[in-house]
Amino acid sequence: MAQAFARLKNVVARVRTQCALSPEVHNPIQWNRSRGMQTCYIETFGCQMNAHDSEKVIGTLLSEGYTQVAKPDEADLVLYNTCSIRDKAEQKVFHRLDEFKRHGKGKVFGVLGCVAQQEGERIFERAPHVSLVAGSASYAKLPEMLVQLETGNRRVTGLSLDNDQAFETPFTKRDNPHRAYITIIEGCDKACAYCVVPFTRGPERSRTAESVLNEARELARMGYVEIQLLGQNVNSYRDPSPLGWDFARLLRAMGEVDGIRRVRFTTSHPRDFVKEIIDAIDENPVLCNHVHLPVQSGSSSVLARMQRLYTRDEYMRRIDWMKQARRNISITTDIIVGFPGETEADFDQTLALLDEVEYDSLFGFKYSRRPNTAALELAEHISEDEKIRRLAIVLEKQRAIQIRRNSELVGTVEEAFVEGYNHATGQWIGRTSQNRTLNFVHPQHAGPREGASLAGTSCTVRVTRAGPNSLAGEALI
Ligand code: 5AD
Ligand code: SF4
Repeated sequence: MAQAFARLKNVVARVRTQCALSPEVHNPIQWNRSRGMQTCYIETFGCQMNAHDSEKVIGTLLSEGYTQVAKPDEADLVLYNTCSIRDKAEQKVFHRLDEFKRHGKGKVFGVLGCVAQQEGERIFERAPHVSLVAGSASYAKLPEMLVQLETGNRRVTGLSLDNDQAFETPFTKRDNPHRAYITIIEGCDKACAYCVVPFTRGPERSRTAESVLNEARELARMGYVEIQLLGQNVNSYRDPSPLGWDFARLLRAMGEVDGIRRVRFTTSHPRDFVKEIIDAIDENPVLCNHVHLPVQSGSSSVLARMQRLYTRDEYMRRIDWMKQARRNISITTDIIVGFPGETEADFDQTLALLDEVEYDSLFGFKYSRRPNTAALELAEHISEDEKIRRLAIVLEKQRAIQIRRNSELVGTVEEAFVEGYNHATGQWIGRTSQNRTLNFVHPQHAGPREGASLAGTSCTVRVTRAGPNSLAGEALI
């Protein structure tokens, strides 16, 4: 570690000298060309928000002169961008850090994201080789925090949630060359009784529609064809500029950006999900016909105890809008089983809801106790065995629904956007607007050859087979 800090200090000294000599070094790119070589590695846990935060963090580090490497062993600076949504996700990062307790000499370790925000300075006690602990609301200060590390500070923190700005950076290193994430809103103002997110990501901050649209236009110019709008609750988006656009208005405008052929969004909260969103999807095929609408439970009394702010009937009204839409909208959801006090009858209502909605896919979770959440105070916590049993029943039921629904698609023709090629199966990997994976063979493109990959293009594909989690087919030419 001492070596790494010495190297970092050296760099700061050099940068400072140049700064005094030439004003143009304030341009970070020019500034850093002359910096000594430093390497960084980042591993990301959790949701798409975290994945995109990591792209922005790496973009910032590259602009500060770092080089990204593929393995932690090769890095001077090792970052973990963490998730604390469930206990298991949280434990993963401490296992990672433990691996380096003895072999991490000469490296600087940083914990970013939700575990950082949740555990704060306690991380320094638990993992003394960590030097940086920063939550997502502090990433705009990353360059300053790096300078602090470089000047030898071994306990650098960025834990304030008191920030009314979203994290915007001119440098984002995107992992996918065709599909890009754009954050439109950060944080969450809801107070679901089970959820750490309002605590780890702070209050809601929306970006202006203008900055979102400018980013989309820039991405289109760079050749991106698909955009995924991100937020903990995109439906409560509200443009802070005098325009004051809501989410449906922003979505419509996104569908008009030249060159962008698909727009997705995640994640939605049913309480703020309005019919105008479905109208916008109905009117413009660029807006993907897929909505992820987490329900969590089919029982209104469990929903009330979860503080979800809607009843089962109110949720079903939104499902009806989608089912009555002109386009065939795929619907996916999240379910939590074993929330405190969930009775067998409550659970049966969740199973009945699955039959009624017939989701195209779902994520099922066992309730996990989270620090700082209201549900900790509730009585009647459900045993782990019972949660395991309920989750298995949910997943088995949903699997049968997916087999049935996917098999109905055999014989139809779909437009697939190509994401890559699977050498093991000899199939192109595509995705439909409904967000289904559609693997297919192409009579004229048996596989990617130099300069001739189908990735990033779209193909018309006849569906020939269906499994529970994906479709297979043949491209039509
Ligand atoms: N326990 C289990 N699942 C949770 N989720 C959020 N918090 C918890 C928790 N404490 C699930 C919800 C949410 C998804 C992202 O994670 O279903 O929609
Ligand atoms: Fe995990 Fe939630 Fe944080 Fe995403 S916002 S990383 S899901 S805790």
